[in-house]
Amino acid sequence: MYNFITFLITFLVVVTITNSSRVLELSDKFSEVRKEGGHWLVMFYAPWCGHCKRLEPIWGHVAQALYRTNIRVGRIDCTRFSGLAKEFSVGGFPTIKFIKGNEEYTFYGDRTKEDIVNFAVRMSGPPVQDITRADSLNTIKSNNNVFFMYVGPREGPLWDAYYAGATKLQPHGFFYAASSEIASQHADIDELPAVFVYKESLHYFYPVESNTAEIDPEYLNSTLHDWLNEERFETFPKVTRGNINEILQTKKYLVLAVVEENKLQQIPIEMLEFRDMVESVIRKKRDKYHKNFQFGWVGSPELANSIAMTVLPLPYLLVLNSTTNHHHIPEDEPGQLTADAIDLFLEQIYNQSVPAYGGNSLPVRMYRTYFEARTSLGDMWRGNPVLTTVLFGLPLGFLSLILYSMCCQDILDAEDDETEPLLQHEKKE
Ligand SMILES: *[C@@H]1O[C@H](CO)[C@@H](O)[C@H](O)[C@H]1NC(C)=O
Ligand SMILES: *[C@@H]1O[C@H](CO)[C@@H](O)[C@H](O)[C@H]1NC(C)=O
Ligand SMILES: *[C@@H]1O[C@H](CO)[C@@H](O)[C@H](O)[C@H]1NC(C)=O
Repeated sequence: MYNFITFLITFLVVVTITNSSRVLELSDKFSEVRKEGGHWLVMFYAPWCGHCKRLEPIWGHVAQALYRTNIRVGRIDCTRFSGLAKEFSVGGFPTIKFIKGNEEYTFYGDRTKEDIVNFAVRMSGPPVQDITRADSLNTIKSNNNVFFMYVGPREGPLWDAYYAGATKLQPHGFFYAASSEIASQHADIDELPAVFVYKESLHYFYPVESNTAEIDPEYLNSTLHDWLNEERFETFPKVTRGNINEILQTKKYLVLAVVEENKLQQIPIEMLEFRDMVESVIRKKRDKYHKNFQFGWVGSPELANSIAMTVLPLPYLLVLNSTTNHHHIPEDEPGQLTADAIDLFLEQIYNQSVPAYGGNSLPVRMYRTYFEARTSLGDMWRGNPVLTTVLFGLPLGFLSLILYSMCCQDILDAEDDETEPLLQHEKKE
């Protein structure tokens, strides 16, 4: 019997090692180890959390991808080391943090290998990276859909503002600087200094007023920061629970084409046509809509349903007001919705002549909590029917459900006061 247990333990240990060989299992000692400096990418998890289980294979790939860098990849079981969870103010599972010395940065993007690796690589370098060879720019272009570039002398108000903005937004985007010789091989630059964003093979310049020396540095600081913050998204990104809060920080209307992807990330043809049609609106009329509308698409209807607080037939169009969290849905049947009809609908939203639903009022928030708790119950059941049955057999069952939906939030960021209250709820699953 004793042998059997030893065998079992050995077996389990080996399984753990082979599953995530490059991932370091961290303990209480990490509190000391971090002080030695070094760059760490750490996942804070709980063994019972479904989102953490889904992240596990991705985490293994992340560790593999970063194996030859100076970034060490680890994970911390917060049920065993609750002291660490407290030290890093972890409020939900899983939480991903980049840690260097006393600094720590939380990852808020979509939890794909690519996005997490990019985040870690970015955080391990300086806020603005210098480009000294023209061909490095080609590599950067092939690796990133969106990045920012400063061109000109490394001094003066625009450089200061760019550097400040890059420092603040480093967790969210790539910021580079290059000389005009290098940059002009890629874009036509009329005047120096200049800042542009590279997006889907095009360059869009920050509108610098002709004499930056005369502009109030604080004004430049904040307008450039806002511009960087708005431009860091693709024209038509995929919107997920991971990045929706970030996208709403643009303070624009969010125009979403809601479709359903299967596990292989395939989308049925009629939904694909609908999505392309919505995308064509922003592609063709960027000048008209870019300032006030951020477009995107959603591949998992649960996210959009939880904003709309109802289950709608797919595909559909949902427009979300990022400041009030009201949403708008066109009355036309999705099958009949054309680019022209969307055009008219967005104009009406902009002049506020169409009905708005939802919002942030107390009854709406309560209803949304109820809607999400019901959805969580479904999720919990699909994730672990036995556990769910046992829990609901107990008088504390309902409390457990509440705890589950509170603790298994995608991300919970108590410190970020910019987070909209709605989205605190959105994050629950
Ligand atoms: C510009 O903004 C950053 C934060 O984004 C701040 O640290 C810096 O002091 C600001 N500079 C000026 C001149 O206002
Ligand atoms: C959202 O609604 C408010 C109040 O109706 C309005 O002032 C604002 O312009 C709308 N749009 C956005 C993007 O916040
Ligand atoms: C709002 O925009 C629509 C479409 O352009 C227009 O038909 C309607 O008259 C406008 N309403 C107001 C109150 O301006």
